[in-house]
Amino acid sequence: MSLRSKDLISIKDISTEEIELILETAAGFKDVLGRDIKKVPALRGKTTVNLFYEPSTRTRTSFEVAAKRLSTDVINITTSTSSVVKGETLLDTARTVLALGADIVVIRHSCSGTSHFLAKNIEASVVNAGDGTNEHPTQALLDLFTIQEKKGRIRDLEVAIVGDILHSRVAKSDIYALTRLGANVRLIGPPTLVPDYLKDLGAKVYFDMNAGLEGADVIMMLRIQLERQGKGFFPSTHEYFRNWGLTAARVSRAKDDAIIMHPGPMNRGIEIASEVADSSRSVILDQVTNGIAVRMAVLYLVSGVKA
Ligand code: CP
Repeated sequence: MSLRSKDLISIKDISTEEIELILETAAGFKDVLGRDIKKVPALRGKTTVNLFYEPSTRTRTSFEVAAKRLSTDVINITTSTSSVVKGETLLDTARTVLALGADIVVIRHSCSGTSHFLAKNIEASVVNAGDGTNEHPTQALLDLFTIQEKKGRIRDLEVAIVGDILHSRVAKSDIYALTRLGANVRLIGPPTLVPDYLKDLGAKVYFDMNAGLEGADVIMMLRIQLERQGKGFFPSTHEYFRNWGLTAARVSRAKDDAIIMHPGPMNRGIEIASEVADSSRSVILDQVTNGIAVRMAVLYLVSGVKA
């Protein structure tokens, strides 16, 4: 089996079978990453371009490591130091990287829909590394991989996603992916940050943190995205932590073996207490490590599809 598209833009666009294929392929690559020589020649001769219009630590580095482990050449373009600051359009920048020989373009942009636009307009494979408040599909895939690894399954798990769901592309991709694979998704946060329409996607909404965490198998915390919030969605970060911050006392509402996740970067003391982020229940760094195997799988599978 292979993917149907040369691009990975959205979890909504791919089938359950394609999600499972990516996770199975990632499991094979995770084995490779455990070897002394953590590299395979699968994409030797190909070129991957990381085109990041927004800051990133985990995603950009993870795609770079993944591409290198697959033996592709990697070019990193950070737009703050590129000709974008001189007014070059996205399409002209993309055409330029194609002329330089790009086979795969990994793009992060603050505007929703950017990766879709690019995929329609260039022949190279396009992978969405986060577009505005829309989707972050590889984050959801690495989250699925980590849950599967730690809990042995996804179906019928109670997964609580907590915080700034309104602005979170991670939450959207995770809701699509988790409900598709049979998890029960709970969304927890203040009414200003948990839009009602998300109920239509099959998630339950809780405005009471303790009630939402009761009996959860997985607690997935989200970063408060102050840079995307044009107005006050809550009175202060201090108040936010008091009502929605994950503390050890709140974790005790979940199952005894519940795991704690966060896509990063974390705001310690705002959405999560350090005692929780650094606890034995936290799988936050496992998410980062698993991201490499999952992104290797995505790069490998999209590059096998002809335009
Ligand atoms: N999870 C995530 O997208 O992190 P970065 O912003 O560091 O890439």
